[in-house]
Amino acid sequence: EGLRAIAARRGITYGAAASTRWLGRDPAYDAALAREAAILVPEGEGKWDSLQPRQGQFTLREMEPILAFADRHGQAVRGHTLGWHTAMPRWVWAALDGAPAARAAALLEAHILGVLGMTRGRIRDWDVVNEAIADPDLLPDQDLRDGAWWRAIGPGWIDLAFQTARAADPEARLVINDYGLEADWPRAAEKRARMLRLLRGMRERGVPVQALGIQAHMPLDQPFSPAPFAAFLREVRGMGLEVLLTELDVIEPAGQPLRDADIPARDEAVAARAHAVVSTALAEGCRMVLTWGLADPHSWLNAWAPARRADGAVVRALPLDAQYRRKPFWHALARAF
Ligand code: XIL
Repeated sequence: EGLRAIAARRGITYGAAASTRWLGRDPAYDAALAREAAILVPEGEGKWDSLQPRQGQFTLREMEPILAFADRHGQAVRGHTLGWHTAMPRWVWAALDGAPAARAAALLEAHILGVLGMTRGRIRDWDVVNEAIADPDLLPDQDLRDGAWWRAIGPGWIDLAFQTARAADPEARLVINDYGLEADWPRAAEKRARMLRLLRGMRERGVPVQALGIQAHMPLDQPFSPAPFAAFLREVRGMGLEVLLTELDVIEPAGQPLRDADIPARDEAVAARAHAVVSTALAEGCRMVLTWGLADPHSWLNAWAPARRADGAVVRALPLDAQYRRKPFWHALARAF
């Protein structure tokens, strides 16, 4: 029995990021994804460069295999992501260069209208804005990240994205998604406060945001305290918003050799962290949990995290191993659900 069934019995939706780099290439992987996940999120195929590679040319070509797989296996799909400061094709950067705010706003609106026009009815959950809060250590004096849309449109870009999304698809759940809100890094409290200020303002202005997506890339070299995280989730839920974990994985400390002999201990540490964050979120009313991938060799952290061993050993960040066997992380999720 897979995690999707175990979670469903408790009213919880479990899913995973999927990528056409892996999907349809290995029957054992496809079977594992079908068995474990009730919802898929395209890891890259829902980003701007995939959906509007040329101006005005909207296409689901890259995402379609994931939508088709989900249809075949009775899975939902969530969208990731409409407004972000990266993963945009060169033509967008060129168009934004020196553009007046109104022209930039028209670009963003056209993208959201075009994409949701294609996915309406098929994707009912969208990350409308991703990573819009500035990291306090990088930008001490303002809450919002100084990304491309902020620079071109101003702080109103976030409201605009949500209002446009609502107009384009009255039924999708509109989510704001971010990282740095879960672990006890030194500026966690300030990053949480920034997100709460943004959300409170959006609620006051009547902006149609419905949920906060917490990425939950959990670094093991930062502690995790359930109490302040739970208090943060309570504040968000108190505004009438749902919370979800959208990109859970566990990041092992950099600079340590990843020796095979250490795998059992590493797996236990990874599982304990996953259990702590998931059980805290569930206790605060979170009803959807996605891991950012399903099996270790597919994790983006193999490319991104510096903990990789020179001989190509993979990270231990996800619920299944390279043979799609269940790791302690998998059992931690099953227990938490
Ligand atoms: C990552 C993908 O996993 C990579 O394959 C890609 O090269 C870069 O983006 N936060 C997010 C995701 O919101 O979109 C990122 O995904 C991981 C961090």
